[in-house]
Amino acid sequence: MTTSDTLPRDGRASAEAIGSLIDEFAQMSAGGPGVTRLAYSPLERTAHERFREAMTELGLTVETDAVGNTIATLLPEGDTAASAAAIGTGSHLDSVPQGGRFDGIAGVAAAVEVARLAVQDGQPRRRPWKFVVFAGEEGARFGQACTGSRVIAGLTTAADLEALTDGDGVSVAAALLELGLRPEAAATAVWDAADWHAFVELHIEQGDVLERDERAIGVVDSISGSTRMRVHVEGRSSHTGGTPMRGRRDALVTASRCVLAGDAIANDPANEGTRVSVGDIDVQPNSITTIPGVVTFTVDIRDIDGERQRGVARQLEQLYRECAAENGTTVRIEQIGDTSPVSLQAAVVDVVEQAAIALDTRPLRMPSGASHDAQQISHIIPTGMIFVPSAGGLSHVPDEFTSAEQIARGTDVLLAAMRRLDAQP
Ligand code: GLV
Ligand code: MN
Ligand code: MN
Repeated sequence: MTTSDTLPRDGRASAEAIGSLIDEFAQMSAGGPGVTRLAYSPLERTAHERFREAMTELGLTVETDAVGNTIATLLPEGDTAASAAAIGTGSHLDSVPQGGRFDGIAGVAAAVEVARLAVQDGQPRRRPWKFVVFAGEEGARFGQACTGSRVIAGLTTAADLEALTDGDGVSVAAALLELGLRPEAAATAVWDAADWHAFVELHIEQGDVLERDERAIGVVDSISGSTRMRVHVEGRSSHTGGTPMRGRRDALVTASRCVLAGDAIANDPANEGTRVSVGDIDVQPNSITTIPGVVTFTVDIRDIDGERQRGVARQLEQLYRECAAENGTTVRIEQIGDTSPVSLQAAVVDVVEQAAIALDTRPLRMPSGASHDAQQISHIIPTGMIFVPSAGGLSHVPDEFTSAEQIARGTDVLLAAMRRLDAQP
C-alpha cells in the first residue's frame, strides 16, 4: 500500500468515482477478451456520448468537432466570453483489439473527476478549463495513431483522412461520414494556439519503470515517435506436397526473414532504445496444404530519437527488398504512419513536477515509450503528461491494470498542476 491510500480524500479525487466510470466504459466493447472499441467505430461514439453526459450533468458546455473530438468547457465564474487563454486536460476512449480498460480511459476518468472537483470546490479560476476526449488515438485500425489530436494540431488534413485506410480498405473519411461526422471540414477542428495556455494529459505508463522504482507518479518529459509501414510480399502459391523445396517462392518465408531482420536491427547495440515490432500479419490463402502466395504485415518502429527512427525505417525497407529478392518474391512497402518524437515543454513539465512534489508523491521524470495525444498537442500548445503505474508493465492486453487509487493519486497531481497553470500570468 502506498502513502496515497492514507491521504485524506477531502478535496481530493475519488477513487470510487473514477473506478465506477472506468467500469462503465469497459462495458462498451465489441466483445472479449478485454475491451475492443476501435477508432471511429460506433462504440467509440457511444463512449464519447457517455463523457458528454457526465460533463453536461456537471454544467459544462460540450461540443463535438468535425472529426469526432469531444470538448467540454468550464468557464471562470462570470466569464461568458472565455477571455483568458485556456488550460486543458484529456485523453482518448478508443482501444486496440482485445485491449485493456485503462489505456486512454484513465485520463478521461481523471478529466471528469477534475471537472467535478473544480465545479464543486468553488475555488476561483482565472482561465477556461477544457476537458477533451480525442477521437481515434489508437493506430491499430488505420495505422496512423492520434488522428483526432493530429487534426487538431494541423498535422493531419482532410486529404490525409481520405488516404488513410484500414485493413478492409475503409478510409478514415468514410468511417467518419458513416458516423455522421464531417471529414471534409477537418480544417475547422484545428485549434488556435492563441486560445491556449497549457495542456496536461494523464495516462497509464504502459511499461514497468514506475512499478519497479515504487513510484506513484511519472512526470513525462519526452515521447517516442513511430514510423509504421504495411508490407505486401508476393510469391507463388502451390501444392505443399507436390512442389519441391527448390525454386519455391514462399511469401511467408520472405516475411519471416523480414520479421527477424527487424528484430536484429532493434537488438543491435548501436540502436539501443529503438523498438521494432511486427504485430499484424495476414497470410494467403492460409491453408495447411498450400504454399503462402501473398503475405501482408505491418511494422511499427518506435524511438525517442527521430533521426534514428527514420534511419531504421530506411534500413528495413532495403533489407525487406533484399530478403524478397533472395527468395524469388517481390515486396511493396507503404508508409502508413509517421510521428516524430517530441520533448515536452519544460515550463509545463516543471509545473507538473512541482505539483507532484508538493503532494509528496516522489515523482520520477521519464520518457514515454508509447504515443500520445499530448505528443501532437505539444506541437501547438505547451504540454505536459502525468503517468500512473501499469501493473507488471502490461498494456494493450486484457490484463492491463492500474488501481483506481493509483489513478486518483495521479488525478490529485493533475488538479494541482491545473490550479498552478491557471494561476500563471
Ligand atoms: C498508443 O497506444 C500507441 O500505440 O503508442
Ligand atoms: Mn493511450
Ligand atoms: Mn494505446
